[in-house]
Parts: sequence; C-alpha cells; structure tokens
Amino acid sequence: MQVFENISLKKYHAFGIDVKARYFVEYASVDELKSFLESGMLSENKMLHIGGGSNLLFLKDYDGIILHSVIKGIEPVSSDNDSVTVKVGSGVVWDDFVQFCVDNNWYGAENLSLIPGETGASAVQNIGAYGVEVKDLIETVYAVEIATGNEVVFSNADCEYGYRESVFKGRLKGKFIVTSVVFKLSLLPEFKLTYQHLEAEVLKNGNITLQNVRNTIIAVRQSKLPDPEVLGNAGSFFMNPVVPKKHFLELQAKYPEMPHYYVSETEEKIPAGWLIDRCGWKGRRIGNAAVHDKQALVIVNCGGASGHEIAGLSEQIRESVRAQFGVELVPEVNFIS
Ligand code: EPU
Repeated sequence: MQVFENISLKKYHAFGIDVKARYFVEYASVDELKSFLESGMLSENKMLHIGGGSNLLFLKDYDGIILHSVIKGIEPVSSDNDSVTVKVGSGVVWDDFVQFCVDNNWYGAENLSLIPGETGASAVQNIGAYGVEVKDLIETVYAVEIATGNEVVFSNADCEYGYRESVFKGRLKGKFIVTSVVFKLSLLPEFKLTYQHLEAEVLKNGNITLQNVRNTIIAVRQSKLPDPEVLGNAGSFFMNPVVPKKHFLELQAKYPEMPHYYVSETEEKIPAGWLIDRCGWKGRRIGNAAVHDKQALVIVNCGGASGHEIAGLSEQIRESVRAQFGVELVPEVNFIS
C-alpha cells in the first residue's frame, strides 16, 4: 500500500483541474485494501474512492483520503462451447480489457471501446455506449465491505443495475469497494450494430469483425469526443433525461425533428446533447470552460478552469434547457467538494 500526502490530483481526473488531496492511497491487492481499512485512517478522514477519475469534478482541494485501486489481472475462470468467464481486477484500464477481449476473439465488449476509466468503476457506473451497457456482460462483482473488511460477491441481480445506475451508487453508496469484476463474453460471433448508423459505418471500413467494430467505434468517438489528455473533459456531462410520454409528445409536436429513444409505454428518453445544442450552447465559452464544438453534451476545460467555473457553466446550461423545454438535466458527472 502506498500513501502520499498533499499531492496534486491533476493527472488523476479527466477535467485536469489542479486540486490537491490531503492523502492519496493506492492498493494493489485485496489484502492491502483490508490493511488500509484496519489502519484507522478512515476514522479521522473522509474518503473518496476513484477509478480513472473520468466522471469527477473537483470543486476544491480534497481534505481527506483519495483511494485508488491498482489491482491488476485479467484471468479466465471458466469456459464452455459458447462462452468464457473472466475475472478482471478493478484497477485494469477498461479499454485495455476491451482490447484483450478483441485479441482473444471474445464477443460482447467491443461496443464499449475507448470509454475512459477503469474496470471497477465501470461496474459501479454501468457504463454504456452504442447499444450496450456493461451490465449486459457482468456475471458477478467482488467487493469489500468498508465497515467490516469482509469480501462479498454480488450477483448481477444484486447490483440493481439501471441506466448509469447500480446499488454501489444508490442504496449501498459508500459501503463497498469493488475489487474485481467477472464478465461473461461470447465465443460465438454476435454483434450489436443497430445503434443509429453503426452498421453502415462499420461496413464502410470493411467486413464485420471484432477489430473492425472496435476500430469504427474508436473513430466515431474520437471524431465527436475530445481527448481528455488534450482538452480536459468528462465525456457526457449530463445523463439523457427520461421524460413522461405526455411531455415528450408536447415537445415532439413543437420539434418534430427531435431525436428520442423509447424507454417504456409511459416514458421516452431525449438526448441531452440535442437539447443543449438547440439552446445554442455548442461551442460557447465562458471564462475557461466551454461547451465542446462537436458535441454539446461535453463540457471542456479550455485550460486553467476551476471546478466552480465548470459547475457554473453547467448550471447555466441546465437553466436554459429548463426554460426552453421544461426538462430537468441531471449531471452524470459527480461534483466533489
Ligand atoms: N445531438 C445534437 N447535437 C449535439 C449532440 C447530439 O443534435 O451536440 C443529437 C445527435 O445528432 C443524435 C442525438 O442527439 O441524434 C444523440 O446524440 P449522440 O449520438 O451524441 O449520443 P447520446 O445518445 O446522447 C449516449 C451516451 C454517450 C455514448 C453515446 C453513444 C449518455 C448521456 N451518453 O449519448 O456516453 O458515447 O450514447 O452510444 O447516455 C459518456 O457517458 O461519457 C458518453 C459519451
């Protein structure tokens, strides 16, 4: 276990804001995590567990412990004719795991290519893109209970997954630390290409193969989403709002071109990016924070922005979407103070 004091968090989160943490603790195994929990440091300090920091907005220095897993390892645990199960350490970079699956001809994770962050956080956040959510691949999640240090195995159903939701963000928030995730991947060629124009994009680049799907998704993401190494950002700043059908139909009558996704008989999802774009925000800059010029869903740090500057811009965006569409945007990004 490594304990650092007063270190800059700039390289540990995607907005690249230069805030400091009082303590930064990294552990490389479940045993090291347990030793940390027994150390008593937690009784005197608040704690935030981070993954790749791809969804965090620090509003100021963090006067507590930032905890980070560097548990590595991708280990196949079983297989049959159709599928393989594989246990992945929480500190494995998510996209390294996707590449590993593609290299081994395991099907299922390729649509989630290039999503920033680490494997532990992927299971907390239920990351999703291009018609796939990570919950579709998860068998079990290994976690340690903070209060007792006990290891607990959660089944997929125990995780209570929803859109960017899980029990670890909801009912059991702050109670467990995910240490590894077991995924089930298919050994048979099965592709999910129905999202928007994905299949056509893949075919433009060649045959439908795992590597081609991965390459196409990487190219689409790179064309729309700024690279956090170059321009600090956390991907989608807001979740796509789910609105009651009646409200959706009123909006649709006024804006027939509005894209939308079916949720249920009573609800419809509207892309936040479209709503923000229609309010005229795309490419607008306020101080050192701006709305990305290729994707209105993304707020970027143009260099030197403070957390408050970014939060302030997000609040103005929420107000204008509320005023124009009567829709409440909820940040996907976690504000940390
Ligand atoms: N749109 C605009 N203007 C914009 C942005 C979008 O008009 O500035 C329109 C698009 O033309 C499209 C619709 O809104 O018709 C949907 O937009 P987009 O394809 O960009 O994706 P999304 O469905 O809003 C979700 C995830 C993304 C994920 C993509 C691809 C959320 C909040 N976002 O966006 O996730 O990459 O699907 O599957 O669910 C992330 O979580 O960080 C993330 C990037």
